[in-house]
Amino acid sequence: MLGQDVVAAADAAGADVVAMDRPEIDITDPALTADRVAGFDVVVNCAAWTAVDAAEDEEAAAFAVNAVGPQNLARAAAATGARLVHISTDYVFAGNGESPCAEDAPMAPRSAYGRTQAAGEWAVSANTQDYLIVRTAWLYGAGGPNFPKTMARLGAERDVLTVVDDQQGQPTWTVDLADLIVRLVAARAPSGTYHGTSSGAVTWNGFARAIMATLGKNVRVDPVSSAAFAAKAPRPAYSVLGHGALRTVGVEPIGAWDQRWAAAAKTVLAL
Ligand SMILES: NC(=O)c1ccc[n+]([C@@H]2O[C@H](COP(=O)([O-])OP(=O)(O)OC[C@H]3O[C@@H](n4cnc5c(N)ncnc54)[C@H](OP(=O)(O)O)[C@@H]3O)[C@@H](O)[C@H]2O)c1
Repeated sequence: MLGQDVVAAADAAGADVVAMDRPEIDITDPALTADRVAGFDVVVNCAAWTAVDAAEDEEAAAFAVNAVGPQNLARAAAATGARLVHISTDYVFAGNGESPCAEDAPMAPRSAYGRTQAAGEWAVSANTQDYLIVRTAWLYGAGGPNFPKTMARLGAERDVLTVVDDQQGQPTWTVDLADLIVRLVAARAPSGTYHGTSSGAVTWNGFARAIMATLGKNVRVDPVSSAAFAAKAPRPAYSVLGHGALRTVGVEPIGAWDQRWAAAAKTVLAL
């Protein structure tokens, strides 16, 4: 989902872009990865094991993609002299704070997926000196299944939806994140960790209401607690990331989630 928009954004910025997916590249294969990465100036890793609940039962397989994969990419990038941009997640944090999480806040993942992503961040910083780790969260885009698409489908079928109201986060459009990645690379931002999410915060319930409003649907969106959904992996209650590191290097963070949703809705929902 993100990869497609990164390719489009880099292409629009005038870069000579090569997109790779499986089977052309398997980031768990060190030799193949080194071969594919050779010769590039910048490598953006949008690949991941993203099945959060399945990772609880298959942590080793998730670790191979989310930790060993970035290690292979970091070593390959270092060998060829490329800068590595690696995408990570809010799930590296416990998500139990009350104010936006700073980039250097201690990682405390509460799920298998979060542990593998935390290991991936470490693998990147331990294997190359030229890297950007960009943590994102609550992504939606035209190129993949996501929350707005699910809500739009359910809103067409039902008069009442029940959506959790005890998790807060920053819905983020893949087009905005792709644009931020291109801007970070263009700015030659110092190696380190940055947060690539929209500004502000909302609950899933609030986001669902915004989606119904965009669609002009008279659908009631009732609140419910996360405990009502017996998800295998725990979800962070407060997934709000701060953007101080971006400001420090003079790169403008993504705008407010509601304004960006207004800009994104047509494209994402193919209206
Ligand atoms: N979606 C979110 O809400 C969210 C939130 C926080 C962070 N993120 C992070 O943002 C990034 C992009 O997410 P996304 O939603 O765009 O993910 P996505 O749509 O699930 O795409 C992940 C891609 O990785 C590929 N992949 C998996 N294993 C691979 C391997 N061994 N070698 C090469 N490619 C492999 C998948 O290929 P196949 O299709 O062949 O499996 C898929 O194309 C990921 O790092 C994710 O962890 C996403």
